[in-house]
Amino acid sequence: MLKETEINALVKQIFDEIRFTQEPAGLYDPLRYMIEIGGKRIRPRLCLTTYSFFSDSFDESIFSPAAALEVFHSFTLMHDDIMDRSPLRRGVPTVWKKWNEDTAILSGDVMLIDAYRRVSQAPRASLPRVMPLFSRTAAQVCAGQQYDMEFESRPEIPMADYNMMIGLKTAVLLACSAAMGAIIGGASEQESDALYQYGYELGMAFQVADDYLDAFGDEKVFGKPIGGDIVNGKKSWLTVRTLEKTADKAAFLAAFALPADTPEQKAAKIAAVKEIYLQNGVDADAKAEIVRFTDRALEAVAGVGFGSVKLEVLRRFAEKLVARAC
Ligand code: IPE
Ligand code: IPE
Ligand code: MG
Ligand code: MG
Ligand code: MG
Repeated sequence: MLKETEINALVKQIFDEIRFTQEPAGLYDPLRYMIEIGGKRIRPRLCLTTYSFFSDSFDESIFSPAAALEVFHSFTLMHDDIMDRSPLRRGVPTVWKKWNEDTAILSGDVMLIDAYRRVSQAPRASLPRVMPLFSRTAAQVCAGQQYDMEFESRPEIPMADYNMMIGLKTAVLLACSAAMGAIIGGASEQESDALYQYGYELGMAFQVADDYLDAFGDEKVFGKPIGGDIVNGKKSWLTVRTLEKTADKAAFLAAFALPADTPEQKAAKIAAVKEIYLQNGVDADAKAEIVRFTDRALEAVAGVGFGSVKLEVLRRFAEKLVARAC
């Protein structure tokens, strides 16, 4: 089993070696840009962590699939930023802003293809389990993104629908990352299923944390402008929870419907909506929900005989993942 610092060093090494210098530069430059600006790289880290529970042989047959998860994730972000009209990602301009939308679409497409190529480099014996898992996950992320957009124009979203949506757009990829590392490492189905569930619950906690940080985070750490979800009329966890508990729905809906065309309007809308979030205490509720999902993640791996050292690794991973919000 590898230490956390060793996993992080491996991930750094993997991405230092990915160059994306192919021609035409107009197609590949945005890929290089996305990969070089980094990000937290939690998906390959999770994949390598679960892999290291079952195998200590580290070579391309695990590095490529681990990298594929990050390349796939970065592809979803490239398209997500067009859909969400987001100007900033990982502290720098988004691809559609720096280049243009057409570039972000086509470079995203080739990034998805690149991700498939890398997954297919998993050991041959693991492919019958790995490929369907990856394909199912990729399609689920698209479904989640579609629900995310559809929810913008629905006045009220039940929490169950919100959970379904984030399960698809975010949680399944963390689940896939945890399960894929385990499968390639040689885990039994029971073990990889438990790790899938761990990744899923962790992904739920992670998206609630992302929604929380979108309103209450620090832009320098978060790497994205604060209030983007409010400006875009996103049905975030905070919105859904506020509509569940507020005594004055009309006031919230009015604030949420304020125009946000000019910088002044944006700032006023963000301030008005956040004020109602705070009045209703949904910031504290979000933190409690993050803890609840994190606990569920740990419960998912409690009964499979992993042993205390591995369980401690999984506990630390979970804790660090949501630490910025809690
Ligand atoms: C952002 O993912 C999209 C969500 C699922 C919330 P990350 O927060 O993992 O983004 P990076 O890769 O670290 O930039
Ligand atoms: C991201 O959801 C989910 C995917 C990219 C699939 P968000 O839209 O909340 O992600 P950010 O906040 O832009 O990173
Ligand atoms: Mg989005
Ligand atoms: Mg977005
Ligand atoms: Mg977000």
